[in-house]
Amino acid sequence: MRLTFSRLLQVATLASSALGATLPTRGTEELVERASGTKYVFAHFIVGIVASYTQDDWANDMTLAQSIGIDGFALDIGMDPYNDQQLGYAYAAAAALDFKVFLSFDFSYWSSADTSLIAGNITQYASQSAQFTYNNDVFVSTFIGDGFDWSTVASESPALFACPNYQAASLSGGADGVSCGFNWNAWPSSDNAPIDQNMTTAGDQDYLNALGSMPYMMGVSPWFFTHYGPNSYDKNWIFYSDWLWNTRWEQVLQLAPQFVEIITWNDFSESHYVGPLHPDDTSVYAGGSTGAVEWVTGFPHDAWRDVAQVYIQAYKNGDSSPTVTTEELVYYYRPTPKDTTCSDSVAQPTGYEYDDDSVFVIAMTSSPGTVVITSGSNAPVSIPVVAGINTVSAPMGLGSQTFELQRNGAAVIQGTSSQDISNTCTVYNFNAYVGSVKA
Ligand SMILES: *[C@@H]1O[C@H](CO)[C@@H](O)[C@H](O)[C@H]1NC(C)=O
Ligand SMILES: *[C@@H]1O[C@H](CO)[C@@H](O)[C@H](O)[C@H]1NC(C)=O
Repeated sequence: MRLTFSRLLQVATLASSALGATLPTRGTEELVERASGTKYVFAHFIVGIVASYTQDDWANDMTLAQSIGIDGFALDIGMDPYNDQQLGYAYAAAAALDFKVFLSFDFSYWSSADTSLIAGNITQYASQSAQFTYNNDVFVSTFIGDGFDWSTVASESPALFACPNYQAASLSGGADGVSCGFNWNAWPSSDNAPIDQNMTTAGDQDYLNALGSMPYMMGVSPWFFTHYGPNSYDKNWIFYSDWLWNTRWEQVLQLAPQFVEIITWNDFSESHYVGPLHPDDTSVYAGGSTGAVEWVTGFPHDAWRDVAQVYIQAYKNGDSSPTVTTEELVYYYRPTPKDTTCSDSVAQPTGYEYDDDSVFVIAMTSSPGTVVITSGSNAPVSIPVVAGINTVSAPMGLGSQTFELQRNGAAVIQGTSSQDISNTCTVYNFNAYVGSVKA
């Protein structure tokens, strides 16, 4: 099985330093997209790692996605021989659930010469009921592929609504046949290198400027950590993600783009999955002998979907802030302090030193309260929160991790994570363990 480890972010972070490092406020110079009409949320799904999926596996993932308000999957395809079988299952499973899908050509594999093959693949699925269409045109997207000739494809296929992931500069360069732009770059970075900053909307502004009146598809991601050594894919870094999930969704409400794409549903290799783990098939995490299985096994991200659900609702309503009806503390943290030495043949990921040795809680509350974090043997840390969704943190301590929401000195929500923080390790694992406590 060939695996897709290609999201190397060749997408440069254009001009983000020039536009400033701090989170922009709603100043006059800020271009704010407030898209009209129905808004849609998709999740990026890597078909390349599901060679052995059944239609039921697809239906399970789609049911989970649909239950939080995701409208469809962007089906990332390379040129794998099992594409047709898996796309057949995906379109059939989606049709049965009234879920939507569209093809997202991964230009780590496809090239500018492939217009006819791409048109052929689009046409093959375009008339299926699960195909996502926009303004009655067949929706199609990409990972990279700047400057690809979508007009030629459209001359050999049904009418297209092409929303590729080009860099903003390529969009303004008059990209041919493009109706929309997708910004993959959903992590703090500069020229694809980690930086010690929170995510800003500077990159989004570049796209909005380049797109003018065309719709924007905004990438939203919770994390990015990948750890392949020089004998493997030689791809070993973390983008600063400590506050990312909550911050990025707030930016979605601020910009209110036409489309949101969650990056990703199942790219385990880069730790930005929000879909379920697949414990019976850890091969999907593997990449040679030292694969993502090392940093993904036992590291669920499911509770991040609960946060997304509330934000998706607010985004679709056109609200400027989320409305919490079910209270929950969604916590996440790395399993070891960053300066711990692990018995790992691969070094610490680039950018690791920017991480905070903290335990984080996204508090979803319907009225004010106090979050109490007890991290290992540290004294409990109490942090007041207002109603809504707020991320708070406390310094990381070794041992068990307990989370509480208190009102009037009494716990209304309380629980202990099943993942301890430890200072012994065999892998520099900078993935996040994500869990939650509810009433
Ligand atoms: C779809 O693309 C593949 C290459 O990955 C190609 O072999 C196949 O012929 C294409 N399908 C159609 C119907 O053009
Ligand atoms: C990111 O934002 C959080 C919350 O405002 C802040 O505590 C943290 O210091 C910021 N991180 C960086 C690197 O600026």
